[in-house]
Amino acid sequence: MKKNKSSKSWIIKQHRDPFFKKSKTLGYRSRSAFKLIELNEKFKFIKNNSNLLDIGSSPGGWSQIASSIIKNGKIVAVDKKPMKEVKNVIFFQKDFTDNELQKEIKKTFGGKIDIVVSDMASETTGNKSLDCIRTNLLCSEVINFSISILKQRGILVSKVFMGEDFLEIRELAKKKFKNVEFYKPKSSRSESKETYIHCETLNTL
Ligand SMILES: C[S@@+](CC[C@H](N)C(=O)[O-])C[C@H]1O[C@@H](n2cnc3c(N)ncnc32)[C@H](O)[C@@H]1O
Repeated sequence: MKKNKSSKSWIIKQHRDPFFKKSKTLGYRSRSAFKLIELNEKFKFIKNNSNLLDIGSSPGGWSQIASSIIKNGKIVAVDKKPMKEVKNVIFFQKDFTDNELQKEIKKTFGGKIDIVVSDMASETTGNKSLDCIRTNLLCSEVINFSISILKQRGILVSKVFMGEDFLEIRELAKKKFKNVEFYKPKSSRSESKETYIHCETLNTL
């Protein structure tokens, strides 16, 4: 298939990117893997015995990182797209917003869990403002679901875009969680509006 100018320049940029090169060398399926590494270095939330849900997991970079740390916990991953097997990860190829899937996730864990991570991003339409709104809608869905599945002192880490509805997401998170912080890893491209929200559940839940 003939590639257009912008997809060609994206490929050139990708090949010059140090995180892309490093992900190939280390066998990570995505350069995003480094974002979870950095987020975990900052907040130190993934433990050997954590039960963790990875939302928007394909191609599997975050699941690979979780699987390399978690040896005595359960990892469940979800994506609309297929994902090749990752050791010790139970994968559902489904839309996260589907109510039946959300019930299935809860059934699979069989109780409250320690961590929800979400790197979900809606498909790009070419309209950046619309893309931001769609991804942030997914983030609010993740916030609302997380509050129903996380244990006390449970952790949610989710991608969010600094678009026009960013303040609404921050307010929603602050209403539902105790500690809410934002962190943009170095591996997140500086030109991207992407950042990550880190939230801890209230002790009273
Ligand atoms: C940036 S990628 C995730 C990369 C992943 N963290 C990794 O390290 O390999 C975003 C993913 O979100 C998924 N996604 C978007 N909307 C979704 C939805 N409604 N349900 C499930 N997955 C979704 C996309 O299919 C895509 O694979």
